[in-house]
Amino acid sequence: MNLVVIGAQWGDEGKGKVIDILSKKFHLVVRFQGGENAGHTVITGEKKIILHTIPSGIIRGIPSLIGNGVVIHPPTLLEEIKALEENGIDVRRYLKISRNAHIVLPIHREAERISEERRKGRKIGTTGKGIGPAYEDKYGRRGIRVGDLERKEILKEKLEVLFSEKYMDFEVEREELLDQLLEYGEYILPLSVDSVHYINFFIKEGKNILFEGAQGTLLDIDFGTYPYVTSSNSSAAGVSSGAGVSPRFIDEVLGITKLYTTRVGAGPFPTEIRGSLQEFIRGKGGEFGATTGRPRRCGWLDLFALKYSATVNGISALALMKLDVLDELDEIKVAVQYKHRGSIMESYLPDPYILEEVEPVYRTFKGWKKSTRGVSDIKDLPVEAKDYINFIKDFLEIDVWLISTGPSREETIILKDI
Ligand code: GDP
Ligand code: IMO
Ligand code: MG
Repeated sequence: MNLVVIGAQWGDEGKGKVIDILSKKFHLVVRFQGGENAGHTVITGEKKIILHTIPSGIIRGIPSLIGNGVVIHPPTLLEEIKALEENGIDVRRYLKISRNAHIVLPIHREAERISEERRKGRKIGTTGKGIGPAYEDKYGRRGIRVGDLERKEILKEKLEVLFSEKYMDFEVEREELLDQLLEYGEYILPLSVDSVHYINFFIKEGKNILFEGAQGTLLDIDFGTYPYVTSSNSSAAGVSSGAGVSPRFIDEVLGITKLYTTRVGAGPFPTEIRGSLQEFIRGKGGEFGATTGRPRRCGWLDLFALKYSATVNGISALALMKLDVLDELDEIKVAVQYKHRGSIMESYLPDPYILEEVEPVYRTFKGWKKSTRGVSDIKDLPVEAKDYINFIKDFLEIDVWLISTGPSREETIILKDI
């Protein structure tokens, strides 16, 4: 089975945990977009490992591929490899990197910083990792790719094109940059592959592939709350172009969602909770960015938005995360519709100007006021928690494959053994 695991909200849904659980059933785990803006947390016994660019399957020693659609910041990648190696993971044995993946350069971070500064009140609230500018250069056909690190003369020429088209006002020591890139190449090239052939070999052999999404559907450059989005297709749409696999070979799409909602950075958030309750959820859920440490904005679950996300991705199964965070609440709200200027909206529109004006229509559930932390059998959930989950399942008309009741592997209710 080839499975896409996708964030159904604005990221940080718990993709890392789910991918870690599922990866042992797969022969290959593939990242297909984004870069080190992602922060995927995996808890293995005592250890907490946060992955940024490397697929989460690496932790269990599953072959892992950084696909062509990913953008790579070499120093961060090398640091990540080193940290994993220190944790006893044989990264160099299992990790492959597409030769067509693009490189994030120091000027990309600098350009992003300047762009955010100039936006003043309209900042995106990016992670500051240079992701947007790196993709701009990719689509502007002046990007540097992993394979280029092998050929000094071609790399030099490409850098000249880049600097003649853009970044004229930046002070860059070009020779130094060239040397630095060649040096990174020495570490990265031995792991590089022609990824189309690599991945399609697994497909031809009938192996199982897991595609690891980063960010989330509402951050997708086409389907998200543009311009408050990331610069790649973070929905299931990104898999084919970002990994080099035909849509014909994708079997299932698992949508990951928290049982509430969070968002880091700017942009509309209709179900955002204000005041002390938001702080309570942030504290209990540990809602601080895994990449930047920024406090995440917290709000109620938004089923109206999730229905849209399910449509965009063709979500065929759900993973419901962080049930335990809601344990102490007296009541739990969930948005089922929006009103815009007094009228009920027919369907969700990811238009920030509309979303700023909508008023969510909530359905309220009674809290269960009991600990669900660590529950691993659905029978042991309080009836109110089951009611809440059944409502979500029926509303979305999608099967639930797992419910998460804590950060660790064991704190999980597995409803479908894949
Ligand atoms: P990702 O980017 O989608 O992989 O998610 P992050 O790792 O950025 O954020 C999810 C956070 O929630 C991590 O700190 C996880 O350890 C934690 N987490 C995952 N599932 C659960 C859960 O069911 N309960 C609690 N309390 N924490 C969870
Ligand atoms: P994971 O994979 C949550 C957000 C940023 C900002 C917007 C654009 O851990 O779920 P960027 O740096 O990508 O240009 O920033 O996207 N963002 C994320 N939010 N989780 C992520 O990744 C994110 N990656 C980017 O906060 O709002
Ligand atoms: Mg994250």
